[in-house]
Amino acid sequence: MKYPKEYLGEIKARLKVSTVVSKTVSLKKRGKEYVGLSPFKTEKTPSFTVNDEKEFYHCFSTAEHGNIFDFVMKTQNLKFGEAVKSLANLAGMRPYTFSKEDEIREKKWNIYKVIFNKYVDHYHNELLKNSNSNEAKDYLKKRGLTKEEVKKFKIGFETNDFNFQENIFKQYNENDIKDTGLFYFDENKKRYVSRFRERVIFPIKNISGDPIAVGGRILKENKFLPKYINSPETPFFKKGSNLFNLDFARKFSNNQNIIYLVEGYMDVIGLSKNKIDNVVANLGTSLTSRQILTLNQFFDEIVICFDGDESGYKAALRAAENSIIELKPEKKISFLFLPDKHDPDSFVNEKGKEFFLEFSNSNSVSIHKFIFNHYFKITDDNPSSRAIFEKRLRSISSTIKDEFIRKYVLEYFLEKISELTPNTNFKYKKYNSKNTKSLKSTQNYYNETKSLKAIDIKEFSFLYILLKKPELIKDNFQLIENVKLFSNENKLLLNEILSQSNNFEITDIENINIDKNLIERVLKYASIKHIMIKNFNNDEKILEILSELIRDLKNYELEIRIGELESKFSKDLSEVTFNELKELKKLQKTN
Ligand code: UTP
Ligand code: MN
Repeated sequence: MKYPKEYLGEIKARLKVSTVVSKTVSLKKRGKEYVGLSPFKTEKTPSFTVNDEKEFYHCFSTAEHGNIFDFVMKTQNLKFGEAVKSLANLAGMRPYTFSKEDEIREKKWNIYKVIFNKYVDHYHNELLKNSNSNEAKDYLKKRGLTKEEVKKFKIGFETNDFNFQENIFKQYNENDIKDTGLFYFDENKKRYVSRFRERVIFPIKNISGDPIAVGGRILKENKFLPKYINSPETPFFKKGSNLFNLDFARKFSNNQNIIYLVEGYMDVIGLSKNKIDNVVANLGTSLTSRQILTLNQFFDEIVICFDGDESGYKAALRAAENSIIELKPEKKISFLFLPDKHDPDSFVNEKGKEFFLEFSNSNSVSIHKFIFNHYFKITDDNPSSRAIFEKRLRSISSTIKDEFIRKYVLEYFLEKISELTPNTNFKYKKYNSKNTKSLKSTQNYYNETKSLKAIDIKEFSFLYILLKKPELIKDNFQLIENVKLFSNENKLLLNEILSQSNNFEITDIENINIDKNLIERVLKYASIKHIMIKNFNNDEKILEILSELIRDLKNYELEIRIGELESKFSKDLSEVTFNELKELKKLQKTN
């Protein structure tokens, strides 16, 4: 029995080699490739490489190489069919059963694909070559599209001729044609009509790049007709599973961590025209957790950027509540809000790529902050409103599947709530009474954190790592010694830690000759706590965090100025502020 090429191709399209391999081999990024210790041989120096772009792995010490199927077969001692089953499951696909139904489905799929390709190619050519399409051509030109975008997205225009339809109905049977959703039976006219007549055609492709649906836009807005219509659901097009441009955008995941998620066809095309290709659209339907999972297979951070109007905001909120469920450690979901009246298309076309990326960098908010801020905004300052507020946040956080993230988000919510209501928060004590603060200490905590600056917390995080991981100090002594801290108490503590580690092999918190309250403060407020706990045995990661903190501390002065400019920029959106900001950031990078 042979698996259809399509099925295997989709598994390969959905799974990066590094994703599959890293389930069993710990990989480190090196340039375009990943390296790790060979799973085929005991070794001390890594000779095993993975290349996602070329879709293979290679082991230099045993000459083993192959694709994801080979890897799973060899490392888990499985037959090909078993490897396919296991990888299909990992890719979130249904198992292939070799049943009669699967066979019929495969035949139908092949016909479906041919009809769709013919349709898309035909009307793409009509747009490029037929003078009947001149109005559509002018329209696209007016919207700033060149031939390059038209070709890249295979945009078409369905001219008002019946030849194509007639030909298709001569060649294929009615049911197969009906399944494509391109034509529907008009009860009045008693014949099939094309759904997208006289519309600009945007092909929607599956992850492997085959067109499976289309969207059609009218040329002139008209209150009796919808601006866009999309293909109905078909046996091969399920709305909550597909994303426009995913087939193309996923190819950028080898050198981009971020994927932009926008609402519309034109948003994707506008960003792509401005050389931002890591973008997909969910086409105005509500975002599903399946779509989030798919994006997470390729990208670490999803930035959701909907239109800057009320409906965009509402859609973003719905997206936030649907997607927080799938939030995972190491993955991030953020929201970017554009100035009112802008959508990603108009914004990037007006401001350009650099500006868009900078804007996104400094203005996107993480999903839990967005949710908190939203519900806080609509909460009144009275106990019952606050109670509803808290209940809502608790129920949202309880939907999160990942245990660690669920706990982290809940803690974040509760901590923020207790900060908001220092005098009336006895009810939180009840919820937390097992392992946390009494009312009085909650109040103190609030008062203290209020007086702490971001820089204090950074310094605490830096000291926290030294206290918890003293074994890292020796090898990085010079680096650490050169750090200048801002607060006098922290300076004292750092000096003490450094002189201790000069005298002894390893620092012991107990031995540090300094006010215990100072140490307490560090242990309590270091924002790095959660990350440290999670990565406690991953020295490499911790070192990475440490050097990042050190760089941050060195950039402190610069950071303050940048911070001021950033908040100015988010209000005035002026070119001047932006350029000034860019200069400072450049400086920061070279430091
Ligand atoms: P928008 O109205 O924001 O579309 O709807 P847009 O992409 O900015 O369109 P232009 O710039 O006016 O051409 C966002 C998405 O919602 C879906 C489409 O997928 C659209 O791209 N939509 C919108 C519909 O399905 N039907 C509609 O009538 C309108
Ligand atoms: Mn729009």
